[in-house]
Amino acid sequence: MVKSELDTRGEQVDSDDDNNGVDGTESIRTSTPSDSTLQPIYENGRRYCNEIYFMPNDEPEQTRLSIVHQAFLILLDGELTKAPLPPEGPGRVLDVGTGPGDWAVEMGQRYPNTEIIATDISVFDGGPAIISLPNVHFQLDDAEDEWTYHKPFNYIHFRGMSGAFRDWRGVYEQAFKHLQPGGYIEIVESDPAADNLRFAVPNPDSYYNIFVSAMRNAADSLGYPRGREHLERSLLTSIGFVDVNVQDVIVPVGVWPRDFRQSTLGKMVLIACLEGLEARSLRSLTATGKWKVDEVRDLCEKVKQELMTSEGLTISVRFVTARKPENS
Ligand SMILES: C[S@@+](CC[C@H](N)C(=O)[O-])C[C@H]1O[C@@H](n2cnc3c(N)ncnc32)[C@H](O)[C@@H]1O
Repeated sequence: MVKSELDTRGEQVDSDDDNNGVDGTESIRTSTPSDSTLQPIYENGRRYCNEIYFMPNDEPEQTRLSIVHQAFLILLDGELTKAPLPPEGPGRVLDVGTGPGDWAVEMGQRYPNTEIIATDISVFDGGPAIISLPNVHFQLDDAEDEWTYHKPFNYIHFRGMSGAFRDWRGVYEQAFKHLQPGGYIEIVESDPAADNLRFAVPNPDSYYNIFVSAMRNAADSLGYPRGREHLERSLLTSIGFVDVNVQDVIVPVGVWPRDFRQSTLGKMVLIACLEGLEARSLRSLTATGKWKVDEVRDLCEKVKQELMTSEGLTISVRFVTARKPENS
């Protein structure tokens, strides 16, 4: 079962023990996934990849991630990154927490000469990863484990990883170590649960504010912070990165914009936000023991009403790029 699942994602699975990895040069897996580590867990009607990670990996979540990917394409005018990558492609790329693989597959299609290692702790069935590209390799890997890649990367990409790691500094330090001198890291975040939504008429008593503060408390008590601290310039410079560029892009949420492009974007982001409320909160909040399933669903419903009826609602999306110095 494990092998066929991984094959579906286009990964070459080594049957021998010689530790050769996907590109024949490295051992990427820090541990070989067993059937038990891949057994999904069903909770309150959602499917999760393990006992810990707070977001589901079921079909609705996969669809939501694909919508988010399409929204990013509109936002970036068809580009996949804000990092200044060479037009012929960056060379060797790591996509950490690739999800269903939309970004990695698109990157592989655009840059056939670029090798992309796309990692995740979860297996997503179906999705873009079923397009088996020779230069895109899916890999089960936990980014908080020690990285054992044998060849450095030219570009490392993190998108939507808020709340995934206990120790962002540790993950960044490993990324720094595994980047080629001159290589780039990019972190992209748009987590509405991290208080990124802005209402045209702020209301301190909104259900959204209750949602954000409950999510923050849950994340802190579970040890997986989900604020914006990992997006601070100072964290990256303290590790050794230079040319740190932090950009906040304000994106409409809803049907209110008059401009066609903005309105298309707004509708997609609204759907992603509405669908994401339960996906983000159900496990986190119930795991604290302070919330019951029905209470979480009720809160999500109330936040949904606020979002759907809010003219002028926006979300702030942060893009951070940084370079490893040539002489390091
Ligand atoms: C919100 S999704 C984002 C997926 C993708 N980056 C995108 O932008 O569509 C977060 C992904 O991170 C993965 N993930 C969570 N913790 C991880 C870890 N410790 N190491 C690697 N991947 C992880 C999850 O399984 C999930 O697929």
